[in-house]
Amino acid sequence: MSGAEYGGDEVGAIVLDIGGYSTRAGYAGEDSPKADFPTIIGIAPSKSDDDVMETSNIQDTNKRDKLDYVVGTNYITAVREGLELQSPIQDGMIENWDLFEHLIDYVYNKVVKSEREYHPLMMTEPAWNAKAKRAQLTELMFEKYQLPAFYLAKNAVLSTFANARSTALVVDSGWEQTSVVPVHDGYALTQAIVRTPYGGRYISQRARNYLEKMSIDLTPATHIAAKQIVKERLKPIYTLRKLPILTESYRDYMTDQLVADFKSIITQISEDKYDSEEIKRLPSLEYEFPTGYRCSFGAERFELTEPMFSQEDTASMTLNSHQAIPEVVLSSGNACDTDIRSALFSSLVVVGGNSLLKGFTDRLVGEIRSKSSASKVHKCVTNNTTIERRFSSWIGGSILASLGTFQQMWISKAEYEEHGKICVEKKCP
Ligand SMILES: Nc1ncnc2c1ncn2[C@@H]1O[C@H](COP(=O)(O)OP(=O)(O)OP(=O)(O)O)[C@@H](O)[C@H]1O
Ligand SMILES: [Mg+2]
Repeated sequence: MSGAEYGGDEVGAIVLDIGGYSTRAGYAGEDSPKADFPTIIGIAPSKSDDDVMETSNIQDTNKRDKLDYVVGTNYITAVREGLELQSPIQDGMIENWDLFEHLIDYVYNKVVKSEREYHPLMMTEPAWNAKAKRAQLTELMFEKYQLPAFYLAKNAVLSTFANARSTALVVDSGWEQTSVVPVHDGYALTQAIVRTPYGGRYISQRARNYLEKMSIDLTPATHIAAKQIVKERLKPIYTLRKLPILTESYRDYMTDQLVADFKSIITQISEDKYDSEEIKRLPSLEYEFPTGYRCSFGAERFELTEPMFSQEDTASMTLNSHQAIPEVVLSSGNACDTDIRSALFSSLVVVGGNSLLKGFTDRLVGEIRSKSSASKVHKCVTNNTTIERRFSSWIGGSILASLGTFQQMWISKAEYEEHGKICVEKKCP
């Protein structure tokens, strides 16, 4: 039996794109995901049995003390004693399978609210996903979740489709890293993938260190009961809410959220090569912290993001080192066959939330043009809307899973039963 009877119009497929920062979930054929929530699981001592029912949390029966597992922004950011926050994902791959299952349960119970056994599931994966993890995931989906059909698609390939291409050099600047994956005729050229840790998390850490060094109080809004209006740069005057004992992981997450807001409003990337004198002359921008403290930022707005583009250490041009983003793009494109190089460089697809920093694509294209031979035509085909940049792999998955010609590509339950979990290697190359 083939997978042909699944998907299509009768029973919609579900598309799930789990990133290191957020998870996007919804139905194939739709323009955007039904939900986009943090890839974080909150774990806290259970309050009462009633509460567990109400939030559909799951008790951990292995432990003497019952635990609640919560997912979704409202639950993970709620002020709650002993709430620990953890991610099931590391380096784009599933690292903690137990937490991962809580995330899947949340998707089915709270987001798509549907029976698992009726809907095929398309999941995205990083192009560097480990073979053993792919097999383990396939097994879990058929054995535990009893899915009728399953497919694993590489997120760079889906971003290529979302931009109406089949060949592209996909630059994905997300939370954990920036990766460059060449895609040719719908296949990821995995031997030429190059990655760098310069991504959203790097900028957040840098911004946080900077703000802490300036002794700026980073107390989040949810912890503040009342505040007064004070003049710029004067010590904030506020009162704290009565707080229970909070964990370090929770405090860290809340601070990261505050810094993420600061970063998206204040920081920006110098569109031309960074010139410290010129940048000093650009207008500064005021930011108000949740405490009421107000301060203007000038050159820092550009300095905080600059290392992503002008890391001077080019001594080690090996793959996957700490190179600046333009170098990583060039290394990846140049690691491909010469006959497809110009097709790749003329179709640069820039995706990921961190690429929404102002000036990112202009600077990237400019740097690549100046660093490579003039004969190459460098064109950026990326769509500039926030939704399409952040959700590109989900959107590509939504398109692919609803194509009539795709329906025979699913791994059907029957195929899984006949060939076992290794069939993912053949069916989802
Ligand atoms: N408008 C914006 N301006 C600047 N940065 C933004 C904006 N929106 C999101 N980000 C940043 O984008 C990053 C998340 O990107 P994205 O959603 O692509 O990550 P992800 O796919 O979940 O993670 P990864 O690709 O690492 O697995 C975060 O660092 C966030 O702060
Ligand atoms: Mg991503």
